[in-house]
Amino acid sequence: MIVTRNAIRFWRHGRPVEISDFHPRTTLLDYLRLNQRHFGTKEGCGEGDCGACTVALGRVRDGRVRYEPVNACILLLGQVDGAELVTVEDLAAGGTLHPVQAAMAAHHGSQCGFCTPGIVMSLFALHQEGERPVNRDAINDALAGNLCRCTGYRPIVDAAVAACAEPPVFDGLAEPRSLSPDSQREDLFVGNSTAFFAAPASEDSLADLFAAHPDATLVGGATDVGLWVTKSLSSLDKVIWLGRVAGLKDIATTPDTLVLGAMASHADAFASLAAIDPDLGEIVRRFGSAQVRASGTVGGNIANGSPIGDLAPALMALGATINLRLGKTTRSLPLYAFFIAYRQQDRAPGEYLRRLTVPLLRADQVFRAYKVTKRFDEDISAALGAFTFTLDGRRIAQARIAFGGMAGIPKRATETEAALAGVSLDEPAAWGDAMAALARDYQPLDDHRASAAYRRTVARNLLFKALSETASGETRATRIVGHRDHLQAAE
Ligand SMILES: Cc1cc2nc3c(=O)[nH]c(=O)nc-3n(C[C@H](O)[C@H](O)[C@H](O)COP(=O)(O)OP(=O)(O)OC[C@H]3O[C@@H](n4cnc5c(N)ncnc54)[C@H](O)[C@@H]3O)c2cc1C
Ligand code: FES
Ligand code: FES
Repeated sequence: MIVTRNAIRFWRHGRPVEISDFHPRTTLLDYLRLNQRHFGTKEGCGEGDCGACTVALGRVRDGRVRYEPVNACILLLGQVDGAELVTVEDLAAGGTLHPVQAAMAAHHGSQCGFCTPGIVMSLFALHQEGERPVNRDAINDALAGNLCRCTGYRPIVDAAVAACAEPPVFDGLAEPRSLSPDSQREDLFVGNSTAFFAAPASEDSLADLFAAHPDATLVGGATDVGLWVTKSLSSLDKVIWLGRVAGLKDIATTPDTLVLGAMASHADAFASLAAIDPDLGEIVRRFGSAQVRASGTVGGNIANGSPIGDLAPALMALGATINLRLGKTTRSLPLYAFFIAYRQQDRAPGEYLRRLTVPLLRADQVFRAYKVTKRFDEDISAALGAFTFTLDGRRIAQARIAFGGMAGIPKRATETEAALAGVSLDEPAAWGDAMAALARDYQPLDDHRASAAYRRTVARNLLFKALSETASGETRATRIVGHRDHLQAAE
């Protein structure tokens, strides 16, 4: 018999907390500030961009509690189930500041202080989990989701360097065994049939529940859904969170493929994707911020169907397929076929995304992907171009190309792909037809991120860059950062 629990359960201040009465759309930040009256965690943007609301969640992985930073403003309260919640109020032990707090004070890393709690929590997670020695690049990546409007980052980074020179000191406040997934096999359902927060523990329970409530909102990390609450003020009465479904976070590699469960977070998927190709790793490194990568999932990025989502074009160019389930029936289809029209995907009511299968590159294949944004860190793409060339010596035998930001959906460039078949890498003059074909493949968006004319030019330039790099094997002349020899050496 499947047991159902009717309250969320998490750990705070070393004690278990149970909540059985909350609206499914309640955010963690509202719970902390409005319900608990704990004002250390701040609210800035309310959309995951500024990091003022950063807290850490500890969950058991590989037998120990590991802490990740998350944006409390867009995280639903129910998503804390099974975790240890650590806020800025929890760090100082017995009146002694945590090393990160002490270093921030010693290095003058705070002026108005509004951003400081969030910065401290991001650095706490880095201090706790960062591989020693923690270098400035790792610190910059860890802070990319934290905006400070007055101090300037130099003293903050100096504080991080000083603090992270020491080993982790936080022992955790929860009993790891109580956080273990093994102790969480039951389904979770809080509410009633018209308004609920549910978190099934198995795919069978999920399929049954979603078939019974196809109007429910599925939630992965809520880095998209959270903004529907805070910015669109959506009512979000029925929520099914996928974070407890056994198997949906799994990541596995076969000799030819990488299989990513839909609930694999970007942070967890990073190493496997980077192992396929360093350009893919670089795209994930620049995906949102550490907070967004810790919460946001691969499946959510695909299922959301955004024309400017990063993973869809990159994985389409690699020839990825997806697997979906409706009731007891599963089916697979090529990723590119999933996107039908703007925000319209090939997904029936009650159907959910289970996993993605990404073919690994063969020895005769070359991959390139480029994300173009206004800002290097924490910015959504104006355009993203991804290219897989299958080579026959110095000729392109086959090309698979996909772009984000160039149409109402992430879309393959089939005309351009055809125009590249048989083209020699040694005759750049012959690349022109393929570059011209891009105009037949795409009628790009014209919006505040970029004009259609800009996107058209960028797409041509990215194709030229991919061909030039493939022809020369060099990236020094074509890149300011992210040189492939550097990225490969860093792996
Ligand atoms: C500050 C910030 C920065 C961001 N930066 C980037 C970026 O650089 N690149 C980028 O591409 N995106 C970015 N995003 C968008 C977002 O983080 C990603 O799209 C993320 O992958 C969404 O995953 P999620 O699990 O949080 O999805 P959720 O918000 O939980 O869900 C998104 C949608 O997918 C549906 N869904 C989720 N899982 C499933 C499933 N298994 N089956 C069916 N439907 C499902 C939900 O119902 C919802 O419609 C950013 C967001 C924020 C807030
Ligand atoms: S308040 Fe800005 S990220 Fe949450
Ligand atoms: S100290 Fe960060 S915004 Fe002022």
